Amino acid sequence: MQIGIYPGSFDPVTNGHLDIIKRASSLCDKLIIAVARNQDKRSLFAAEERVSMLIESCCGDIKNVEVVHFNGLLADYCIKRDVSFIIRGLRAIADYEYEYAIALMNKRLAPGVESLFLMASAEYLFISSRIVKEVAVYNGDISSLVPECIIPRLMKRLRSEQ
Ligand code: COA
Repeated sequence: MQIGIYPGSFDPVTNGHLDIIKRASSLCDKLIIAVARNQDKRSLFAAEERVSMLIESCCGDIKNVEVVHFNGLLADYCIKRDVSFIIRGLRAIADYEYEYAIALMNKRLAPGVESLFLMASAEYLFISSRIVKEVAVYNGDISSLVPECIIPRLMKRLRSEQ
């Protein structure tokens, strides 16, 4: 069985992530969507909330996905779960250098696990979770940027932060 993993901070999940999830799920028998910790970021949502938003956004339509949260190194988690490949989405050329460094380190830590990159679809090239939050803070229209179920949760959280 080929198991793929799509790790990220998903704070929150966007339509760009969903595009990658749909395409990646057809490449493997099982796709683990893993909410992981990026040391450099302070998240708006707790890991458990990000997991539940991902489940709500994609588990109805896509049958072979599992959403998890883990602490620690991605490479260790891949070995533990017998993962064959790590999926990452590439949007702009600016993503490349960062992704290349992560892929090389993961390969060093888990030599049996490959990294596969999917090019983001054109309509999602400009989306990031940070940009979505920025637009939402100023009451901009985010309806084409995130799954519908995310909007009330995001607006509520942003209001409580103000
Ligand atoms: N569509 C829309 N947005 C996308 C996207 C896509 N296809 N692909 C990436 N993004 C956005 C994300 O929303 C995120 O936006 P933000 O910076 O505004 O939050 C940004 O691009 C990149 O984030 P993401 O893909 O979530 O990755 P990340 O850099 O936050 O996460 C981890 C990286 C979590 C996978 C990495 O830190 C990790 O593996 N952590 C575990 C610990 C570990 O092993 N560390 C060593 C790694 S070598």
